[in-house]
Amino acid sequence: MRILGIETSCDETGIAIYHPDSGIIANLLHSQTEIHRDYGGVVPELASRDHIQRIIPMIQSVMSMTGLHSTDIDGIAYTSGPGLIGALLTGAAVGRSLAYAWKIPSVGVHHMEAHLLAPMLEKEAPENPFLALLVSGGHTQIIQVDAPGHYRLLGESLDDAAGEAFDKTAKMLGLGYPGGAALSVLAETGNPLRFSFPRPMTDRPGLDFSFSGLKTASVNALKQAGNDEQTRADIARAFVDAAVDTLVIKCKRAMLQTGIYTLVAAGGVSANRQLRSALASMVASIGGKVFYPRPEFCTDNGAMIAYAGYLRLINGESEPLSFAAHPRWALAASEL
Ligand code: KG4
Ligand code: ZN
Repeated sequence: MRILGIETSCDETGIAIYHPDSGIIANLLHSQTEIHRDYGGVVPELASRDHIQRIIPMIQSVMSMTGLHSTDIDGIAYTSGPGLIGALLTGAAVGRSLAYAWKIPSVGVHHMEAHLLAPMLEKEAPENPFLALLVSGGHTQIIQVDAPGHYRLLGESLDDAAGEAFDKTAKMLGLGYPGGAALSVLAETGNPLRFSFPRPMTDRPGLDFSFSGLKTASVNALKQAGNDEQTRADIARAFVDAAVDTLVIKCKRAMLQTGIYTLVAAGGVSANRQLRSALASMVASIGGKVFYPRPEFCTDNGAMIAYAGYLRLINGESEPLSFAAHPRWALAASEL
């Protein structure tokens, strides 16, 4: 059984093929960063237009790279939400139509479900139940995963997502867009003792987050301390330390509260080096284990969509001829 996966929820076109015995046998990604950089954020209409131009040639490329014919594909999975409506509709329309033409089933996949299942593509995969820390440009959530398809939201950001806060702070420090990764590199040369930012919402019970205050703390520090290179690095360091510390405190709290000591970290920010090392120490201190997707499967990709779709298709899920895109879509509503 081979599943073609299509990701078009935001500013990356991802196309991949998954086979249960061989794993991911093809994986192509096209990032639109260059298109959006000058605007300091993703421009939805430009994103949709680029997906439209890329999607068919990229599908043709994965087919020719693998030497597969349309009759070798048994199902199609595409991201149907959450994300940008025009971008989602591109993947949904192409995915659903191709499945119709090829006379195979298709399924719309929840983007965040695909992120949290991505570590299952690794040799060392987590066992159920586990907790998932989902940290991306649009979401910060802690989810209890009883089994694939059975999700409980334990906590989430009440304002900015972690990736959004990284990107906004990075932009303010002149690091371009999206600057999450560059901010983390700059933080490595910063002095950890110069500024101390709050660890929002850690002083009260619960597993929700708030990251907008950290962005404000960065703005205030920049205003007060000046804009030289060392100050920018020191602010980056204070921001990264506070964001990482906050995520780690909440993950530890969730693990102790639920008694589930297996943690998965996924989504773009889970590629962050400081977060990975802090999670590793915390989890070791309580006798737990943490799992990640490989770095290229932390950020958006078609492989995770193909895999999440595979789980749904073998479960007998498939769609009628109509299709839908859900710009907002709660993960718990996508039960298998
Ligand atoms: O999962 P993703 O590719 O897209 C969404 O679904 O949003 O996540 C993108 C986010 C961006 O905010 C980006 O700056 C952030 O992940 N990111 C990082 C790192 N790599 C990507 N943030 C911090 N450190 C990184 N190394
Ligand atoms: Zn994502």
